[in-house]
Amino acid sequence: MVHYIDIVLSSPWMIHYISTARISKKGNYMTRFYDKIVLITGAASGIGKASAERIASEGGTVVCVDRQEQSVREAADAIVQSGGKATAMVCDITDQAAVNATIANTVEQYGKLNALCNIAGALRFDNTLEVKMEDFEKIMRINCFGTFMMCQAAIPHLLETKGFIVNMASTAALGAHAWTAAYSSSKGAVLALTKCLAVEYHLEGLNCNAICPAGVETPMVTAAAEQLPEGADMRLLTKVMSLDGSFAPASDVAGAVAFLACEDANFINGDYIRTDGGLLT
Ligand SMILES: NC(=O)c1ccc[n+]([C@@H]2O[C@H](COP(=O)([O-])OP(=O)(O)OC[C@H]3O[C@@H](n4cnc5c(N)ncnc54)[C@H](O)[C@@H]3O)[C@@H](O)[C@H]2O)c1
Repeated sequence: MVHYIDIVLSSPWMIHYISTARISKKGNYMTRFYDKIVLITGAASGIGKASAERIASEGGTVVCVDRQEQSVREAADAIVQSGGKATAMVCDITDQAAVNATIANTVEQYGKLNALCNIAGALRFDNTLEVKMEDFEKIMRINCFGTFMMCQAAIPHLLETKGFIVNMASTAALGAHAWTAAYSSSKGAVLALTKCLAVEYHLEGLNCNAICPAGVETPMVTAAAEQLPEGADMRLLTKVMSLDGSFAPASDVAGAVAFLACEDANFINGDYIRTDGGLLT
């Protein structure tokens, strides 16, 4: 007896769909990043640096990108010293010419790009009524426009490798964080951008997902915590942290970044992982 499902599966369209969209992306799960070129922004510090270390430790060649020249060189050097493959590139992701040159240099140097991890970002706390438009714009330029420009420059190369984009959003894009009108808006935009790219390019082989962390112990959070707005009610701060009020190490988020940047995430697209210890559950 011929079943409906057999007819569907043996149709030329379905055979083409299965072979081009999924089977071609299967990889060796034991050496996830072997022969993979992964560009990571924000790699001089915090989550970006931890993600570069994690992916390099799994065999990937990491292109560490940041605007902090000395720190990004030190981050890449430390990976190389411990036996990994890394190079540093200095780039301000709000500068489109620099973004385009960084992607072009990566592909020229390594011949391809397998994954782009947009981790660079900026945060500041302000009472909403006191937000200066120049500060709002600065946050949007880094978190949203910078992420977009990196994606735009990288996508043609990622389509050639059937690659992966991992964008750094935040629980601020999902829940509610006080005093972060600009930051929350920018991270909501990153999440919407992620879904847009996921649908627009998936049939051509790209996967695009996001991570939404809550409080992670990094220089960004330490600096912001020291600049809480005047009269801030500390009860509202618990929405930013974790269930037990602690901050997670950056390496806890790096594991999720690595997962979404390789074939383990073949069938995950346009989605996000909350790394928040259950805060928003
Ligand atoms: N730490 C947290 O609790 C937390 C929570 C949710 C989301 N995030 C997000 O994680 C990402 C990493 O943050 P982090 O906590 O590791 O902070 P971090 O300050 O340790 O690292 C951010 C990095 O981004 C770089 N950067 C900033 N602007 C840049 C630009 N214009 N061009 C190039 N590089 C630039 C900085 O130089 C820095 O190295 C950010 O997108 C942040 O919004 C962090």
